[in-house]
Amino acid sequence: MGEDGDGARLMDKARQAGDPVYAEAVRLFVAEECEHARLLGRLLEAAGAATISGHWTDAAFVRLRRLLGLRTELMVLMLAEVVALGYYRAVRDGVRDLLAAEVAGRILADELRHVPFHRDRLRRSFLRSSRLSRVIASALWWSLLAGVLAVVSLDHGDALCRAGVSRTAFAREVAGYFRGVVAEVMTR
Ligand SMILES: [Fe+2]
Ligand SMILES: [Fe+2]
Repeated sequence: MGEDGDGARLMDKARQAGDPVYAEAVRLFVAEECEHARLLGRLLEAAGAATISGHWTDAAFVRLRRLLGLRTELMVLMLAEVVALGYYRAVRDGVRDLLAAEVAGRILADELRHVPFHRDRLRRSFLRSSRLSRVIASALWWSLLAGVLAVVSLDHGDALCRAGVSRTAFAREVAGYFRGVVAEVMTR
């Protein structure tokens, strides 16, 4: 299924935010995510495996993001970005297949830029929020991450274990990345 998400709508929201430089950066971000989908598709092809046309987690992720404004959509997107940091790191360092490790390393290099890109935008958008709304947003954000980590553990736990990362270690690693992001977005 890859990462071919819902880029057009995100680009619309970015355009409506009225900052052409930001809108262009979002267009490039979406293009990078499409490139990840292409690389992953080719990787599966090289392994003789088929891509799938849909998965409930993707459908849920896209539907949730459609309901939201730009800021909330970026918060949901950030969950995927921090999971990607842990996941591609595990594949890059833990699989013996050189092609898979190479693809994971390339994707990881992009994801390492995506996280600060969304983080900086989110930080700006929370600057004028009250302390209470930042506390509430942080709590909701963390509970969403917990749900996402549970789903990823169920759905990809075996693959992660084969890459040498237990479910617990994976959750701990991703929570560590996320903690840094939340602190930088929500702290004045
Ligand atoms: Fe990606
Ligand atoms: Fe990304």
